[in-house]
Amino acid sequence: MANVFAKKPIVLARGKGATVWDINGKEYVDCTSSYGVALLGHSHPKIVKAVCEQAGKLISCHAGFYNEKRTEFLQKLTKITPKGLDKAFLSNSGAESVECAIKLARRASSKPEIIAVMGAFHGKTMGALSATWDKKYRDPFQPLVPDIKHVPPDNLDKAREAMTERTAAFLVEPIRGEGGIRVPPEGYLQGLRELCSEKNILLIFDEVQTGFGRTGKLFACQHWGVTPDIMCLAKSLAGGLPLGVTVAREEIMSKFKVGDHSTTYSGNPLVCAAASAAIDVLLEENLVDRAATLGAYFKAKLTDLQNKHKNVKEVRGLGLMLGTEVKFDVLNTLLRSAEKGVLILDAGRNVLRFLPPLVIEKEQINKTLSVLDSVLEEEENARASGSPPN
Ligand SMILES: Cc1ncc(COP(=O)(O)O)c(C=O)c1O
Repeated sequence: MANVFAKKPIVLARGKGATVWDINGKEYVDCTSSYGVALLGHSHPKIVKAVCEQAGKLISCHAGFYNEKRTEFLQKLTKITPKGLDKAFLSNSGAESVECAIKLARRASSKPEIIAVMGAFHGKTMGALSATWDKKYRDPFQPLVPDIKHVPPDNLDKAREAMTERTAAFLVEPIRGEGGIRVPPEGYLQGLRELCSEKNILLIFDEVQTGFGRTGKLFACQHWGVTPDIMCLAKSLAGGLPLGVTVAREEIMSKFKVGDHSTTYSGNPLVCAAASAAIDVLLEENLVDRAATLGAYFKAKLTDLQNKHKNVKEVRGLGLMLGTEVKFDVLNTLLRSAEKGVLILDAGRNVLRFLPPLVIEKEQINKTLSVLDSVLEEEENARASGSPPN
């Protein structure tokens, strides 16, 4: 493979629920969910069954033909998406769901400009990358897509100043994930909604990381009672299989004409079977409430660690999308935690990010906390003795 992933020295072989095992049989609590994908737990039996059944029937079916599994999935999806967002384009990844949103906004408004926020992450294909903020991702690939500009996050005055006659859409993650698990201040998303409606600008929410129950609501925008015009989804939507979805109101999506946008895999029946089963599992197992309850517990205990360790600056997040900001580079903490049987993600250089499957057990959260406690203590001792690990 191209050398573009920061590799950990672990070969994963098997997973069940919130547990994964490496090829030597060593067990880990998985607080990464493969970057938020394995939200229902690894190899959920209902997903496995749905995939196996569909694989024996029909794996591929171009969207130029109808397919019952695709229809079944779309009907279930549009029952749970926020009111009015009931037309979908199906793709294969988060970045693709953002690409579609950007094209749709330009097509529907006949205006070119997209506003995104500093600190945003929307993916790494050229359109999505142009809306992503971090220089280290952008700079080697200039020139990017023109007319995509950034404003400071959580600032309604700056948003208003940036909006012009040429603005098609304002694109924002309701909670910034890669940007360090940043929850917006009360009133920001509501204010953006009002500004966009007043100025006839489309509001796009990128819920690729926050969507599908992760934050303790089906979609994070529901914490603030705000409905966007276009919403991007991916990651966990198909129980682990690749799927991106861009949903929009009918009058917006209908501006796309035949041939305007496509991908060969759009609405692939195998993926749709998994996604249809994933919606059933999410609802039947009450996982959204579980994310809220276990997330509140996890966050409170992380806050206890903050009170104990002077190198912990802040604990942030909602539901089971949590972050702990520390005063040092987290790489060594991630590696030491993995050695002790807990997989944790980063979100930037100094934020530990927790995105466990929503089926994680309380004991597994407790194990994560006790491993983190001991690793933070090691870090502190190493610093006190003048030999920080990195
Ligand atoms: C908010 C957000 N948007 C878009 C993406 C890109 O998704 P993908 O990696 O599937 O292209 C990500 C990935 O982390 C994300 O967190």
